[in-house]
Formats: sequence, structure tokens, C-alpha cells
Amino acid sequence: MVNNSSRNIVITGGAGFIGSHVVRLFVNKYPDYNIINLDKLTYAGNLENLRDIENKPNYKFVKMDICDFDAFYKLMQEEKIDGIIHLAAESHVDRSIKDPFTFARTNVMGTLSLLQAAKLYWESLPEGYEGKRFYHISTDEVYGALEMNHPEGIEPPFKTTASSSEHHLAYGDEFFYETTKYNPHSPYSAAKASSDHFVRAYHDTYGMPTIVTNCSNNYGPYQFPEKLIPLFINNIRHRKPLPVYGKGENVRDWLYVEDHARAIDVIFHNGKVAETYNIGGFNEWKNIDLIKVMIKTVDRILGNPEGYSLDLITYVTDRLGHDARYAIDSTKLQKELGWEPSLQFEEGIEKTVRWYLDHQEWMDNITSGDYQKYYEEMYKER
Ligand code: NAD
Ligand code: TYD
Repeated sequence: MVNNSSRNIVITGGAGFIGSHVVRLFVNKYPDYNIINLDKLTYAGNLENLRDIENKPNYKFVKMDICDFDAFYKLMQEEKIDGIIHLAAESHVDRSIKDPFTFARTNVMGTLSLLQAAKLYWESLPEGYEGKRFYHISTDEVYGALEMNHPEGIEPPFKTTASSSEHHLAYGDEFFYETTKYNPHSPYSAAKASSDHFVRAYHDTYGMPTIVTNCSNNYGPYQFPEKLIPLFINNIRHRKPLPVYGKGENVRDWLYVEDHARAIDVIFHNGKVAETYNIGGFNEWKNIDLIKVMIKTVDRILGNPEGYSLDLITYVTDRLGHDARYAIDSTKLQKELGWEPSLQFEEGIEKTVRWYLDHQEWMDNITSGDYQKYYEEMYKER
């Protein structure tokens, strides 16, 4: 257990979707910590996500590429970093199909670069790895795809406070456990799997205190609108087509992003070194059913008649190698560390839809490209 009252922590990828929620939680909850948000600000990085905390005294932003070994090593020395929470990555499967090299560079080489810099710095200290933590955030997609052997859904063997009363179905008998063999299919998941292996190798070889977690699909505010949920909410609002890949039968397991951030907090502080924890809310949805919930919610909030936007559904060519089903078993985390998802899905999706509808300016700044200009002058590359 890491229990220092004051800590110097780097959160990589803090300008992205999940990273911004983690940064906000840590900055607000731990005023004595020194929180450094390290991000390259790729197309997916948006410092507008953090406007509400950017002036807090325990927060600092550093624009840096995680592949820049020298710069990161220097930063570790200067800031006496004792904890790393690593989220920076290329994260979109469709992009990875078109451009796998960028994914190998950032997700694999970038992670390795951080590990090696942390190793050299921590090993140079008199106390060595004592009180240090390298926490790597990964995805359930590294486990591959589960079969959909119950296409209509069955009662799952689990109950959780966050599952909806109306919709609580499993679409197969199998789940991803911490012991499930890695079997990634997309270039994105192959690169994430490789980085997970490197992180574990640094523990097994050098004794670095590492932790890896594998989480299901996240949803909530500040997600880049290339991903299903924000893209579709925005398209429904503007009466644009909703491109459903294949038959829309693929199943994803959805977790509200703030619940993921809370899990990261719990695991960073109380998780056991060298362990893996799966994070998920037992909340499986077929894409098409989820899309219909989004349509219903947006139409209700905008005052459209029920079913008004159903005509926007447009079936398009399937994604290459499209994984059929993801479903996480997070019993270990729930039992060992007492974490539970806090939101029922109906509540989470309602909050999410309202957030995107209420933040049209945030969305417009992304579609116009203005979000990247905003901070250009404020922060320079180190
Ligand atoms: P995101 O694409 O929204 O954000 C990624 C962030 O990383 C951006 O701010 C980007 O600027 C930064 N970044 C990219 N390349 C960089 C580089 N070379 N150097 C420094 N910064 C760089 O991603 P997200 O959805 O917030 O995912 C964050 C992490 O969580 C990723 O590691 C992802 O694999 C993992 N994850 C995501 C989900 C999900 O549903 N989104 C689920 C499980 C795990
Ligand atoms: P996405 O949000 O890209 O997350 P991931 O691929 O990491 O699961 O996609 C979620 C699901 O929605 C996935 O099965 C692909 C599907 N999808 C569509 O049908 N149409 C779209 O335009 C997008 C972006 C995704």
C-alpha cells in the first residue's frame, strides 16, 4: 500500500478522455500531491477538458511525447517523480486499422521509453523502488473476442448495483477474467497487449512495482467524437446518418468514465504490486440496442416525437476483424478492493446525453479544430 501524504505523480494522456477525469479526481482529492499532466496533445488531446482545474496550485501541464526518453528522464529527476499513471495512447480501433505504425510507436515504444526512464531514475535513488508505482492503464480488448452464444441474452451469473433493472443481460457464457489468455485482434489491441507485457516484464525482470488494469468500454463527458457514443449523440442532434457497422449485433460492456477514474484511484493507492485487475460494470449492450437508447434519450430531451430519429440508422460495411463481444468480470476488484460502479446505466447515459447536448461549444471547437489552437501559445514543448 502506498500511503505517502505527499506525492509527485505524472499522469500521461491527461488531456484525453479518461485521463482528464483521472487528473480532475486526483487534483481535487489530493491537494498535497503534485500532479503533472504529461500529454503530447495529439488530435485526441484537448486541454479544454481541464479548464476547471488548470489554475489549481497542485496541477501542472507538460507538453511532451512519451517516446521522448531524454525529456521524460529529466522530468522525473526535476520533479522527483514517485508515481506514474500511464494512460497516453493511440486509442481508436478504426484509426489503428488504417495506420498501425503510429499505434506501435506510441503504445509500445512510448510505454517502453517511460518504463526504462523510470527504471534508471528510481534505481539511482538510495531507497530504490521503495514507495514507487508504475500503473499502466489497459483495455479488455487485449483478451480478444468472446463468443455470442446467447444472441438474445441471458440472466448473467453476476449482480451489481450499477446494472440496470430493465437491461441486465449477458450474451454468452464466457467472460474476460484476469487469467484469460491474451489474444488481441486489432492493431490497437495488439499494441496495447505488447505494452502490457513490457510493463509486467519490468516487474518480473527488474522488480519495478507495476500494476496493470484492463477496463471495458468507457462512456461519459469529454470523449472524442470519433467514438460511438459522442459521435452518435452529435449526429442525432444534427440529423446526420448514424453509421452502424455490420448488423449492429456486436456487444460491448460499458462503464461510466468517472467510475473508471475512481477505480484507478483505489488501485493506485491500495492495489497489490504485480497484480492485474479487470475493471467493468457488468453492463453488456448490443450496439443496436444502445443506439436505440441514445436515439430515444436525445429525442425526448430535444422534444422530438418518440422514434423521430430512428430513420438516421444507416447500416454500413463492417469494421475489419470486428470483435463480436467483450464482457469483463470485475469480481476480483470488487471483492479485494471494495470498488463498485456507482451509476446505473440509465442514469449514466442520461447524464452523458445531457452533457453533450449542453456542451455544443466543446463539440464545435473539436469539429472546427479550434480546440487545438486555444492553448498553443500558453504551453510550449519542453
Ligand atoms: P484518448 O484517445 O481520448 O486520449 C489519449 C491521450 O493520449 C490524448 O490526450 C493524447 O494527446 C495522448 N497521447 C497520444 N499519444 C501520445 C504520445 N505519444 N505522447 C504523449 N501523449 C500522447 O484515449 P482514452 O479513451 O482516454 O484512453 C486512455 C487510455 O485508457 C488508453 O491507454 C486506452 O488504451 C485505455 N482504455 C480506454 C478505454 C476506452 O473505452 N476509451 C477503455 C479501456 C482502456
Ligand atoms: P468504439 O466506440 O470505436 O469503441 P471500440 O471499438 O473500442 O469498442 O466502438 C464501439 C462499438 O460501436 C464497436 O462495436 C464498433 C461500433 N461502431 C459503429 O457501429 N459505428 C461507428 O461509427 C463507430 C465509431 C463504432
